[in-house]
Amino acid sequence: MNTKNKLRDSWGSRLGIIMAVAGAAVGLGNFLRFPVQAVKNGGGAFIVPYFLALLFVGIPLMWIEWSIGRYGGGFGLSTAPGMFQSLWRKNRFIKYFGIIGIFGPLVIMVYYTYIESWTLAYSFFAITGKYSAITNELGLRSFLNGFQGLEKNEYFSSIVPAYIFFIITFAINIAILKNGIKGGIERFCKYAMPTLFIFAFILAVKVLSSNPPNILHPDWNVLNGLGYLWNPDFSQLKNAKIWLSATGQILFTLSVGMGVILTYASYLKKSDDVVLSGLTASSLNEIAEVILGGCIVIPVAFMFFGPTAMGSIANSGAFNLGFVTMPQIFNNMAWGELMGFLWFSLLFLAGVTSSVSMAQPAIAFMEDEFNISRKKSIFIFSILNFILSTLTILFFGKGVVDELDFWGGTFCLILFAIVEVMLFAWIFGIDKAWEEMHHGSDMKIPPYYKFIIKYITPAFLLFVITYWFFQEWIPILRMDNVLAENKNYVIATRGGLCLLFFIIAIFVKIAWEKRKISELNPIEKET
Ligand code: ALA
Repeated sequence: MNTKNKLRDSWGSRLGIIMAVAGAAVGLGNFLRFPVQAVKNGGGAFIVPYFLALLFVGIPLMWIEWSIGRYGGGFGLSTAPGMFQSLWRKNRFIKYFGIIGIFGPLVIMVYYTYIESWTLAYSFFAITGKYSAITNELGLRSFLNGFQGLEKNEYFSSIVPAYIFFIITFAINIAILKNGIKGGIERFCKYAMPTLFIFAFILAVKVLSSNPPNILHPDWNVLNGLGYLWNPDFSQLKNAKIWLSATGQILFTLSVGMGVILTYASYLKKSDDVVLSGLTASSLNEIAEVILGGCIVIPVAFMFFGPTAMGSIANSGAFNLGFVTMPQIFNNMAWGELMGFLWFSLLFLAGVTSSVSMAQPAIAFMEDEFNISRKKSIFIFSILNFILSTLTILFFGKGVVDELDFWGGTFCLILFAIVEVMLFAWIFGIDKAWEEMHHGSDMKIPPYYKFIIKYITPAFLLFVITYWFFQEWIPILRMDNVLAENKNYVIATRGGLCLLFFIIAIFVKIAWEKRKISELNPIEKET
């Protein structure tokens, strides 16, 4: 357990922490999930609730997580259980809600690293021309299915290549984590973030300067492709489902409600600004998502396929736009192999900067609550994660990833977000919270945000969780859309998740049984 005298790791520079938090946020969600969500929800109809969710939920939560993280870090706490306890010292139960902040990112990382490894594989396939001769959708779908081990075909005869790329990806993540906060995560993000922005910029320029490829449809052009997303459709504002998707996307893309930003912010010093830095990290994420990301997949798919077919592709599978449509388009373009390489390398860099952030809460929990060395903590974490990811790969296509994504990537985020906003604004108290946020800050948050954080953000989230529960979660819990042959796998996944949650709960209990809340003393940090 952390003691008063133990020095904690800390960030090396302000730029470094902003890049690391922006790196946690900018991920596969920006370039793969966002276009699919936007297309599935009608483009212009999606963008209005999306920006409202950003203003009323995303940005407030970003400030809240930076502030709670820095506050908890001041007592040597790096994960949500202890941080929640430090905010509500009289309630011994509140720390158990904090388990979500370790469990959620761990669950996401289990499947996220595997998808990330596809992007590494595809950048290799792109530059070596492995799929460059396949110019139709059927062929590229078959290529993807073969790679994922869902079928044996002329491209792949087993899952082995995918597993090798997964091992390489996993090893890269561990190598970064092994070098610590400053020497590993911060250093990697400082290079990876500008690189991925440059790659995204090149791709966006290439797309925006393309002529309509289909002479039969001159209206399928760049401007109409951009208009598909940017012409707001206010008539759809009463459609609650779009609000849910937009809010879910904001939480996922900003990595808020996960617990990772709390942990990153715990390495800040008390005098470090959180307001401007949090806003900068959120803005970088939004530039990557809506400006750069919004100029790549949607306009190019619009130009090649038109709005109707683009909608069917997005609805036919979460990965089809990114791994089937994009390679198909590049294969029909000049410089296709290079463009494909840039696209998948961009995804890979974005993925790694996010996945390392998901590992950090569990590792920091072991280090700070049990005094286990970083090396050993990473070793334990790697073994656990590797086993869970391997099981996910072996049972891929049997509903396991959807199940992990539902619990880790949707349910936990919203539940955690509600708990932390209520805790900070209502229990800790909005006046104290406001003061805490502004400690050392380089800008003042507009005063009406006090009202937003206290009332609008929780109300927004409560509306979303209630509506979600009745509309979508009941059918999910009942497994209405799970194929009969996959039901046992889904049940086993649920059982495994309950067990994992329970194990983390036991460790939280052990850690806090020995610890007295009165022992929460400010600690020193590395300078
Ligand atoms: N925020 C991360 C992403 O968008 C998880 O992928």
